[in-house]
Amino acid sequence: MHLFFVLTLALSSATCVRGYCFVSAGDIAHGGKCALQNGTLIDVGTEVTYADKCERCICIAAHSGSVLSCCGYGISGGAFAPVPGCKITTEEDGCTMRLVREDDETKNC
Ligand SMILES: *[C@@H]1O[C@H](CO)[C@@H](O)[C@H](O)[C@H]1NC(C)=O
Repeated sequence: MHLFFVLTLALSSATCVRGYCFVSAGDIAHGGKCALQNGTLIDVGTEVTYADKCERCICIAAHSGSVLSCCGYGISGGAFAPVPGCKITTEEDGCTMRLVREDDETKNC
């Protein structure tokens, strides 16, 4: 039963483009700021991009203080269904996705 659920989830997520997001709870002691993983405090409305992880975080105001909302983008933005004769590659930034022909990577699919 559990395995069936996991399989169903894996199959359905492969058929559509779906990003992942997560929020880290804010701390009211930060006074309207959000703490990054490295301890740096950023103001509400400030966006930080982690190009190495293809992840973008923004500090948003919440009723209990502020929360850091992070989302994957590009290649980290979700699961992608393979198209016959095509393959997925990335731009030089390693995040932006491109669908190219399997037999000729210089041509878009
Ligand atoms: C923490 O990370 C942010 C975003 O990458 C960066 O702008 C900031 O300089 C870093 N701070 C320290 C102390 O490394």
